[in-house]
Amino acid sequence: MRLLVCGGAGFIGSNFVRLRVRDEGDEVVVLDKLTYAGRRENLQDLPDVELVVGAIEDGDAVDRAIGDGVDAIVNFAAETHVDRSISEPDAFVKTNGQGTYELLEAARRHQVSRYVQISTDEVYGSIEEGSFTEESPIQPSSPYSASKAGADLLVSSYFHTYGLETLICRGSNNYGPWQYPEKLIPLMVLNAMHGDPLPVYGDGMQVRNWLYVEDFGRGIGHVLAHGRPGEAYNVGGPDECPNIEVVNRIVEQTGADPSIIEYVTDRPGHDRRYSLGSEKVRALGWEAQVRFEEGLRRTVLWYRDNAWWWEPIRSGDYREYYERQYGRKLG
Ligand code: NAD
Ligand code: TYD
Repeated sequence: MRLLVCGGAGFIGSNFVRLRVRDEGDEVVVLDKLTYAGRRENLQDLPDVELVVGAIEDGDAVDRAIGDGVDAIVNFAAETHVDRSISEPDAFVKTNGQGTYELLEAARRHQVSRYVQISTDEVYGSIEEGSFTEESPIQPSSPYSASKAGADLLVSSYFHTYGLETLICRGSNNYGPWQYPEKLIPLMVLNAMHGDPLPVYGDGMQVRNWLYVEDFGRGIGHVLAHGRPGEAYNVGGPDECPNIEVVNRIVEQTGADPSIIEYVTDRPGHDRRYSLGSEKVRALGWEAQVRFEEGLRRTVLWYRDNAWWWEPIRSGDYREYYERQYGRKLG
């Protein structure tokens, strides 16, 4: 298969590309704007992958990346961090909204036979008990999740209106190698390794449904191959865990001093719990293979062994972001 993977230099996208090249023998073109979160290094072990540097909201760049044609477009490209969407929402509207629109138009123009939109459990909002199904109402609460929800609705409209063969994959919280350290798990792992404070928002009892990144990649592969056009599929992780328990496990695995855990002001509009029911994608033959305990162990080891990857990030732009967001310096 020849795939156009948008946002393939980011965390989940690069893990997906690696899986497809290694396990499926796909030919992959990546279109990526290389924002702070998109990094050439994430693809450096994949010399046959072509990287086109450009934005998804730029129709010419999309045409260049599609070239003589692709069998499918898989769109990971997005602004993805909730905290940044609270302080600077405009890039979220542009990339996640306008960018998705330009990709859908390009898919029509080039008669691409399958379009897969990578989405998130956050479009459903927060749930106290039970799990969301694909029929649950869309009730996003942050500018990030609202922009992703808008994109999902636009994607569905292209199926109903133009007959484009669209699919939507809604993943729960991903973790694993190559994740930019603004997100909970890599932030806590790197801070713990450096003896920096571990900033837990609010009471730390918010619950997330953790999905190892390779399991998500395999789920997306199932949807791409067997999903029914026009449909959305939830891909949820096998384990749920309150944030404070995640942090405690990281403290244990890194051998850090537990006194570095620090409760800080809560995130505005903070969703209390996410939980996805994944029966529909299971019916396509997918099953999560990596439980949280094992995945977290692999992730901590990866960060321990790959300082070459995170050192330039931690001493670069990320330092400024961290100081702005947390009001303190990194050690
Ligand atoms: P990420 O922030 O690590 O990567 C995003 C990638 O998109 C980067 O490579 C960036 O350079 C690229 N990008 C950003 N704006 C672009 C633009 N305008 N044009 C082209 N490329 C652009 O994100 P991630 O965590 O890998 O998430 C990937 C996708 O999966 C997103 O759509 C996100 O909403 C979704 N998702 C993420 C999670 C999670 O836990 N991280 C869970 C479910 C779904
Ligand atoms: P995050 O990784 O930003 O993912 P999302 O907000 O998309 O779920 O955050 C995961 C959880 O961890 C969320 O409840 C917010 C919390 N959190 C902290 O407590 N401290 C932090 O420094 C960060 C980044 C997140």
